[in-house]
Amino acid sequence: MRMYDIILKKRNGEELSTEEINYFIENYTKGDVPDYQVSALLMSIFFNKMTSKETSDLTMAMVNSGDTLDLSQIKGIKVDKHSTGGVGDTTTLILAPMVAALGIPVVKMSGRGLGHTGGTIDKLESFKGFSVNLSKQQFINNVNSIKIAVVAQTADLAPADKKLYALRDVTATVDNISLIASSVMSKKIAAGADSIVLDVKVGEGAFMKTSESAHELAKEMVRIGEAVGRKTIAVISDMDQPLGLAIGNALEVEEAINTLKGNGPKDLLELCITLGSNMVILSGKTTNLDEAKTMLMNTIVSGKALDKLKEFVNAQGGDISCIDDTTRLPKANYIIPVVASKTGYVTKIHAEQIGLIAMELGAGRTTKEDVIDLAVGIVLNKKRGDKVEVGDVLAFIHANDRDKGKKAVEDLVKSYIISDLMENNIPLIYDIVY
Ligand code: URA
Ligand code: CA
Repeated sequence: MRMYDIILKKRNGEELSTEEINYFIENYTKGDVPDYQVSALLMSIFFNKMTSKETSDLTMAMVNSGDTLDLSQIKGIKVDKHSTGGVGDTTTLILAPMVAALGIPVVKMSGRGLGHTGGTIDKLESFKGFSVNLSKQQFINNVNSIKIAVVAQTADLAPADKKLYALRDVTATVDNISLIASSVMSKKIAAGADSIVLDVKVGEGAFMKTSESAHELAKEMVRIGEAVGRKTIAVISDMDQPLGLAIGNALEVEEAINTLKGNGPKDLLELCITLGSNMVILSGKTTNLDEAKTMLMNTIVSGKALDKLKEFVNAQGGDISCIDDTTRLPKANYIIPVVASKTGYVTKIHAEQIGLIAMELGAGRTTKEDVIDLAVGIVLNKKRGDKVEVGDVLAFIHANDRDKGKKAVEDLVKSYIISDLMENNIPLIYDIVY
């Protein structure tokens, strides 16, 4: 078999065989196929698309490119949750303790990732001393005893995806449904959970810009999961404006703590309850969605979810004093208000621009080696649909560098679209795909 022939076949719009896909992934992982040939193949896939069979084959080839986790030592049905990526997405930090507080084992492997803010793993490091590198046995023991562990994804899990994703990132081939579906599902399948709830984001701040393409991606991922015996549900949710109010690492941790204390932003709580209730359904605790929602809300009201967060952070070595007293979290030197220069209604908040502003303040990474500033970011004060008057505070910039803070203020004003007419017909939850 030759890589040249595989590229030619895909370029001509034909379907690749299982053997051809395995050949490409095995040899690329080993370093025997150069990036330039894979780049050409990726671009052919981008233009000619992949069939469902090719997408499944690619997923399984990437699963088999490295280790797969055997979690059979963990009692019960293990659930995992994954988001396709958005701006200010704090859901895992809230959901995981809520679901675990119901006695359902939550096993979560998270990435650091490049992007506007760090990944869940980076955010958790806002708790001083928190360790994201548990041994496999510690990971299993923690889930068995307290029902929750969140660790960094190891390098041996779906290594083919790691290489491919990095290459897609620099060859403009990220936003293809088959490539995203196989990338996400290969990691989820290798990470060993029995059931998976996916949060597929749609809107300006997401890979999928339209509801149609988000549906297509959701259906493809659910199909792949079910085909390999993992119960999979995908929630399609809005990413046309940032989720919640906080965008940044420690700022999102504080927002998560406040939500678990019953003082969270409405949209963030609603999405957490929607995703969480589907995790509860998949765990088999109940078959009634309304009952699942009530059970989850009760974990907040009773304080059990907040207690679970403390237990979880403590078990992984983190300082829990900042959960009771959030002023102990990392704080920025400057907090600068951004004020409205126009009266009207907020009709749009450009999610992608907000993400970039947070990144320029230091909340995210542009290269793997960048060090994140946990303290900086943005806290929105007005969201889509809100009425504003001249002089009202739209948002607060949290900066450690005065010049970066000033620049962020200028950019943030431009991210808010204020109009005379109120229009807010974008739903938070578009659909749920089973
Ligand atoms: N998240 C992933 O893990 N992979 C993609 O391709 C896109 C989002
Ligand atoms: Ca948020």
